[in-house]
Amino acid sequence: MSNRKYKIAALAGDGIGPEVVREAMKVLRATENKFDFQLEITEAPVGWAGIDELGKALPDDTLKLCRSSDSILFGSVGLPERDPTIPKEERPERAALLALRKEFGLFANLRPVKLPKELSHACPLKAERQGEGIDMLVVRELTGGMYFGQPKTTETLDNGEIQAIDTMIYSSSEIERIAHVAFKSAQLRRKHLTSIDKANVLENGVLWREVVSKVSADYPEVTVEHMFVDNAAMQLLLKPTQFDVVLCENMFGDILSDEAAALAGSLGMLPSASLGVTSDEKTFGFYEPAGGTAPDIAGKDLANPIAQILSTAMMLRHSFGENEAADTIEKAVVFAITQGLRTGDIYNSDDPNAHQVGTTAMGDAIAEAVVA
Ligand code: IPM
Ligand code: MG
Repeated sequence: MSNRKYKIAALAGDGIGPEVVREAMKVLRATENKFDFQLEITEAPVGWAGIDELGKALPDDTLKLCRSSDSILFGSVGLPERDPTIPKEERPERAALLALRKEFGLFANLRPVKLPKELSHACPLKAERQGEGIDMLVVRELTGGMYFGQPKTTETLDNGEIQAIDTMIYSSSEIERIAHVAFKSAQLRRKHLTSIDKANVLENGVLWREVVSKVSADYPEVTVEHMFVDNAAMQLLLKPTQFDVVLCENMFGDILSDEAAALAGSLGMLPSASLGVTSDEKTFGFYEPAGGTAPDIAGKDLANPIAQILSTAMMLRHSFGENEAADTIEKAVVFAITQGLRTGDIYNSDDPNAHQVGTTAMGDAIAEAVVA
C-alpha cells in the first residue's frame, strides 16, 4: 500500500450540489483503488445546508475542516427564493463561497471549456463556426475587482434616493500574479493568450493592459492579444476557435466563462479549479463546477454530474499531482459520452446513438469506465 494520502473536505451545499458531489465521490473512490493512494474524504454542511444545520452558511466546524484538508471539493450554494429571509451579508454566495475564496487566497480560477465532437449538436453555434473543435481555458482572477473592492454599500441619500456602490480595484501585483498563471497555462497549450479588459473606459482596464504586456516579456513563445470585453463576448460567438487561454478580471471572467460554457454544450460540463499561491509540494485548491444550484431540477436525478466529476480530475492533477488518475477520469467521461450516455441538458433526440440517463447512471458509468 502506498503512503500517498490526501485529505479532502467535501462540501456539497444546496440544490443539485449533494447529488452531483455524491457521483464525484463515487468516481474519486474508483481512482483510489486503481491508483493506490488513499483519500480521506470528510463531508460537512455549507450554504443553506449549513444555515439549516448549524445556523451559518459557513459553519465554524466546516471552516476548520477546510483548514485541515489538502483540498476542497465544493458542490454549489445559494437558493435565491430563500434570500429574502436573511440579510444579504449572511447569504451563502457571500458568506460561504466568496468567504472561502478570500480566506484561502484562491486568486486563480481555471475554467477549461471543451466541446467534445460527440456533443457538437449541443453547441448553439453552427458546425462551421465550431471548426476543429472548441477548446479554451478561461483564467479568471477570483479575489479582486468589483466582487471584493471597498466601499461596497447601499445608502440612502439626503434627497431620498437609494444609491448602491461597488468598487473595482486592482493593484499591479494582483494583475501580475494572475497574468503569470495565464501565461504558464498558455505555454502548456497552444501558446496564445487573449487578455480581456475595458481599457477604453476603465482605469482598471488601462492598468490591466499595461501589466499584462509587461509580464508577456517573460513568455516570448506565447503570442498575446488584448481584447475589449464587449468584443470578446461577440468573438466568442463568431469565432470561438481563435481562443486558447482567455485571461480575465473577476467580473468579466464570471460573465465570459458562462458564455463559453454554453458553447461547450452546457454549464453542466464546466469544471473549475481555484488555486492560491502554489508551492512545489501540495497545492491547496478548491474544486467546483461553474454552474449553480439549479433548484428547479434538484433531487430529481436530472442534473449533469460531469462538471463536478471533471472538477475532481482537476483536483487530482493540480493539488495532488496524480496526473494519471486525472487523465483516467477525463477519458472515462469522454468514453461515457461516446457510448451515447446523455443527461437531459446534453441530450438530442435526433442523435440515434444518444440515450438519456439520470445523474446516478451517468456517475455509475463514469466510475465503471475508470475501473475498467
Ligand atoms: C461562479 C458563480 C459565483 C460567482 C456566484 C455563485 C457568487 O457565478 O462561480 O461563477 O459569481 O463567482
Ligand atoms: Mg458565474
